[in-house]
Amino acid sequence: MTDVRTDVARDLAHDLAGGPGATGADGQGGIDARRVSWTVDGRLILDGVDATAPPGAVSGLLGPNGSGKSTLLRVLAGVEAPSDDATRVAFDGADLLGLGRRRRARVLALVEQDATTDLPLTVLDAVLLGRIPHRSLLAGDSARDHEAARAALETVGTSAFAAREVATLSGGERQRVHLARALAQEPALLMLDEPTNHLDIAAQLDTMRVLRRLADDGVTVLAALHDLSLAAQTCDHVVLLSGGRVVAAGDVHDVLVPDVLDDVYGVRTEVLTHPRTGRPVLAFSPRD
Ligand SMILES: Nc1ncnc2c1ncn2[C@@H]1O[C@H](COP(=O)(O)OP(=O)(O)OP(=O)(O)O)[C@@H](O)[C@H]1O
Ligand SMILES: [Mg+2]
Repeated sequence: MTDVRTDVARDLAHDLAGGPGATGADGQGGIDARRVSWTVDGRLILDGVDATAPPGAVSGLLGPNGSGKSTLLRVLAGVEAPSDDATRVAFDGADLLGLGRRRRARVLALVEQDATTDLPLTVLDAVLLGRIPHRSLLAGDSARDHEAARAALETVGTSAFAAREVATLSGGERQRVHLARALAQEPALLMLDEPTNHLDIAAQLDTMRVLRRLADDGVTVLAALHDLSLAAQTCDHVVLLSGGRVVAAGDVHDVLVPDVLDDVYGVRTEVLTHPRTGRPVLAFSPRD
């Protein structure tokens, strides 16, 4: 007898962990960031970070609190300027930081950590903001813009909220709307800062599945994540930061191991195997 739950788990494992479109880190396309440095008040926050995110893959940006994940995403997205002339950020071979703001917004979307909206906007209007880079300067919303916004809301399961004011949503609902806005932007490069931190477990898996499908469609996805097991379930490639430096990067099976994690996080790590998906599951205990 076929165990339906096992089939579902297998589908989920496929959906979450590297479908046919995923490719390895080969230096061709995707993000190739070199010597990224950022200083504030004389403090070196990012210290010559080299990081890649392969095309058509989900890459995880990992590391303890304060290790520089958000800062790195903000520099890669052009929100903060690097503090060193030697910094280079290429995306699909083009100089990402050299693009003007509008052109960059057609290429990349960044969903920031705890993004907020003070404007009294409906969910649909908030998602339509993602279309601005694709419109000519004085044009209003087109049918195509509405179609992209509706599709994005559908993808993240928030269509029912379309007419609600963003400010009235719960934290998790709002987080999904921010993802929908980024999807409506139709970026080739999607960067997300802790996209699952307000989400219940089903919504976390849904979000990771959305990221996996985007990657299978050729989008380069780079997500800062704290949940290392969630990263292990989904990511093709991970970059681990500590103290503003890359301490390890590569396949989850090579990076998410006790030899690496115990020192970076100051804990004891055990690597188990998920009984249904076969992917690594990490368990932690304090280091005595
Ligand atoms: N504008 C700023 N002024 C002063 N310090 C800053 C500024 N931005 C970041 N930092 C510091 O830089 C370090 C890295 O911050 P960042 O937000 O990138 O960490 P993170 O890895 O995203 O952490 P978390 O997991 O808590 O989100 C922290 O010590 C933070 O306090
Ligand atoms: Mg952060």
